[in-house]
Amino acid sequence: MTAESHVHKTPPEGAAADWTIPQDWDAYTPEDHRTWDILFERQVKQLPGRASQSFLDGVDVLKLSKPGIPDFEELSERLMELTGWRVVAVPGLVPDDVFFDHLANRRFVAGNFIRRRNQLDYLQEPDVFHDVFGHVPMLANPVFGDYMAAYGRGGLRALNFGNLHKLARLYWYTVEFGLVEEKGDLRIYGSGIVSSHGESVFALDDPSPNRIRFDLKRVMRTNYRIDDYQQVYFVIPSFEELLRTTVENDFAPIYAELETASDFAPEDIDDGDDVVSYGTQAYANAQAAE
Ligand code: PHE
Ligand code: FE
Repeated sequence: MTAESHVHKTPPEGAAADWTIPQDWDAYTPEDHRTWDILFERQVKQLPGRASQSFLDGVDVLKLSKPGIPDFEELSERLMELTGWRVVAVPGLVPDDVFFDHLANRRFVAGNFIRRRNQLDYLQEPDVFHDVFGHVPMLANPVFGDYMAAYGRGGLRALNFGNLHKLARLYWYTVEFGLVEEKGDLRIYGSGIVSSHGESVFALDDPSPNRIRFDLKRVMRTNYRIDDYQQVYFVIPSFEELLRTTVENDFAPIYAELETASDFAPEDIDDGDDVVSYGTQAYANAQAAE
């Protein structure tokens, strides 16, 4: 099972109406499992002192160190006991409404295919390593689990308002590429960072990107790039605070207000920003010059 073409418009053959498919764990080859093990080993070596304690605890309590690609059934049993979440397999990216409905019901959708051996460092579509190693440990944290479910409900609302791109930015800059402050230090928790060998160092140590304290409207106004390391990371003070500000704010008036607000480019700094560290943008500029 490797990535071929996993983007569909209607449930592909063999998928249920909610787009889920059997994980088909027995179909993984020894090479597939070995690919997981290689990716897993180099990330767990690198993440202590970098990843949020909540993420590291999740890896532990879910017993992700067991060799091979996790069996979703087994993983879901553990996760269910902790936070009520389950992991279900899908053939690739699913439509927004399907995705939000799963989240709202505490089902995390994960691709079941794994990247090829020549894609260890980079791949465009999320595979089982990104989806499971990157996302699932945080779902073992009750506060973050609540945030993800609330996000699903918020997504269904945003679809009705036609404001999905604003909400998608919130997901991008928290769930995928978020930083959190723990005991006075920056830590990574975003799945796109923790599952990336390069970005899990870059996000914390590289002088290039800006690191700015999280502000809901600021994040909703900020474009993002999907093809390279981020040029800005937003730092939350805690998961409790992230949950509080997102759940307690009704987004409907915020979407309305932001209708006339300009967007920020990823590298922009705004007067009102609470900047943790100003980036040089050297990395991004060098990439652009190539
Ligand atoms: N409060 C948001 C709304 O009114 C819902 C939401 C909660 C969105 C948490 C994201 C995260 O739409
Ligand atoms: Fe992801």
